[in-house]
Amino acid sequence: MVGSYPNLIVDSKGKVAIVRINRPEKLNALDDALMKNLGRAFSGIAGDKRYKAIVVSGDGGKAFCAGADIEHLSGLKSRKDIREFVDLTHSLMDRIAGIGKPVIAAIDGYCLGGGFELALACDIRIATSKSMFGLPEVKLGIIPGGGGTQRLPLLAGPSKAKELIFTGRIIGAKEALSIRLVDRVVSNGALGEAVSLADEICRNSGNSVRLAKAAINAGLTGQDFTAEADAFISAVLNRDSREGLRAFLERRRPEFD
Ligand code: COA
Repeated sequence: MVGSYPNLIVDSKGKVAIVRINRPEKLNALDDALMKNLGRAFSGIAGDKRYKAIVVSGDGGKAFCAGADIEHLSGLKSRKDIREFVDLTHSLMDRIAGIGKPVIAAIDGYCLGGGFELALACDIRIATSKSMFGLPEVKLGIIPGGGGTQRLPLLAGPSKAKELIFTGRIIGAKEALSIRLVDRVVSNGALGEAVSLADEICRNSGNSVRLAKAAINAGLTGQDFTAEADAFISAVLNRDSREGLRAFLERRRPEFD
């Protein structure tokens, strides 16, 4: 056992640490506490020499993660609170992306919004064929604020990323594979597949893998997370977000200008 946190189960198999988001009643949506605990869990594993790779997944069989907690988001009113939220989100995603061990997302079910951004911050993504992907934030009157505007174009190219972000459309695993948003699709057992891939990596030099990851990431230039954070704050302060977030909670279609 690597650590115990509310809504988070952290255990291990050999040299692979396994982080499971466990808030199934809310489709593993990320609130502040869960994001902070994910950050703590990843930091703990980063410094723990017993583990050479990390797999992250979502419990419950329905979702990897359905994104930021919309109820929590709808309560953010001041620029300061929104800034704190986006900074917390960015610091979690950056921690995952920058950790000196390979991180593999094992996706089974909905992988949306901040959940998809979490998967995009990982090094490799393995999904079951029933998984669904998307950045639906514009349907809520906001924009992706967890690195999605920067990491999605790197994988799918800018125009496909714009199509997906502007429409907020949710796509299936087959399409996600065809535009390189996921690396492997399995009929079931994404977690087992991810652990076995992690095991294969763990047979190699951890130092070499760490250096290779840092070198690859260093070559992924041109990302501007500050621009995304500023745009996110501007969107959340706009009245469209009040309508969009409220509409989700009231289970109705939003009416935007
Ligand atoms: N934040 C907070 N709660 C969420 C959530 C989120 N992002 N996604 C789902 N939930 C909650 C629902 O409110 C519901 O809670 P309740 O039972 O207390 O009402 C529960 O999780 C189950 O979700 P539900 O919508 O009833 O399931 P569904 O099968 O009908 O629909 C989705 C599944 C994923 C299509 C739908 O939940 C959805 O669109 N979620 C939001 C996705 C999103 O926009 N993410 C980006 C957020 S910035």
